[in-house]
Amino acid sequence: MFNGETINLFRKQKTPFYFYDINLLTRTLQEAKQEADKYQFHIHYALKANANPHILKLIGSMGYGADCVSGNEIKRAVECGFHTSHIVFAGVGKSDEEINIALSNNIFCFNCESVAEMVVLNELAEAFGKKARIAIRINPNVNAHTHHYITTGLEENKFGISMWELEDVLNVIKSLAHIELIGLHFHIGSQITDLDVFKGLCVRINEIQQWFFRHQLILEHINVGGGLGIDYYKPDENPMPDFKKYFSIFNEFLEIRPKQKVHFELGRALVAQCGSLITKVLYVKKGVQTNFAIVDAGMTELLRPALYHAYHKIENLSATGNNQKYDVVGPICESSDCFGKAVELPETVRGDILALRSAGAYGEVMASAYNLRDIVGAVY
Ligand code: LLP
Repeated sequence: MFNGETINLFRKQKTPFYFYDINLLTRTLQEAKQEADKYQFHIHYALKANANPHILKLIGSMGYGADCVSGNEIKRAVECGFHTSHIVFAGVGKSDEEINIALSNNIFCFNCESVAEMVVLNELAEAFGKKARIAIRINPNVNAHTHHYITTGLEENKFGISMWELEDVLNVIKSLAHIELIGLHFHIGSQITDLDVFKGLCVRINEIQQWFFRHQLILEHINVGGGLGIDYYKPDENPMPDFKKYFSIFNEFLEIRPKQKVHFELGRALVAQCGSLITKVLYVKKGVQTNFAIVDAGMTELLRPALYHAYHKIENLSATGNNQKYDVVGPICESSDCFGKAVELPETVRGDILALRSAGAYGEVMASAYNLRDIVGAVY
């Protein structure tokens, strides 16, 4: 993926840093948009995956909406050119201040997760003299078959409202004059690579829509969330997920009522493959079982391996010798600060440049200053 010129550029930069391949990002965004447009589906890019302004401006300029989970994400989306009428605001714990930011920006829709939240939203909207549009986030109790920590659609999770509560919820909504119910929202988890899971989601949404139909309610908007996974193992062979198949599943299996609009909240699928964390080898140290390649990036720059044991392909961009096994570890004072165990790399020495691939989603955004480290920057 990286040519000689790019690697030379990396050598001159202060490491670690994120490198974003804007060409790949643009192609991915075009492909996803083209496939969604076939069925007039709307994509709201989930800012939580990557909120880098450079990247956001590009995504906003290509006609995507925004899925935000904080007041600051709403502000950032607006600053980067997303139209407020295409912003949705989700989250189980929206603060009053954040709700006010959303109300003052006249966003498209609040994805509400509890009755308590609706009551507060109603009060705050009244103070603005406005009616807030909401979608109820329903917990569909569908298993996403993904990592436990990023499964969200099961009843045991903190997200959404369960079906058995719905009758009461609808009664409460009727009594709230400053709330207008316009849609239903679902999201079952992230990094879903078995596309059949989305068929299951569609079937479940169809059942739930039947329930609403029986209550003489057809809501105009169905938001099916995000979650489409990517290939962390073969980023070069599969630089883009199968958007064609993904959207066609919703077209085929979701019973869309006349005039209903379908919305998506994709994050990872759009931005993961364009990003790599570039780091330099500081030391190579002999261990008892294995050698350690100690690099200048750590869990502070890319948390996913430490937090979820997530796999990121690691490449040595400087060496071509025979492969040996290394534990690739960072400088942070935590044993979990390890990017990969027994990773096969060509013989590696101090100064070599390594790339941790597929790091464009949930990478830079989850960086921290733990150990008082500098917050990682980006190169395009
Ligand atoms: N919509 C909602 C309501 C969500 O909770 C999420 C992700 C998305 C959309 C976007 O999902 P995506 O298309 O990116 O899968 N930090 C974890 C992932 C957390 C995902 C949280 N919710 C990771 O690094 O794998």
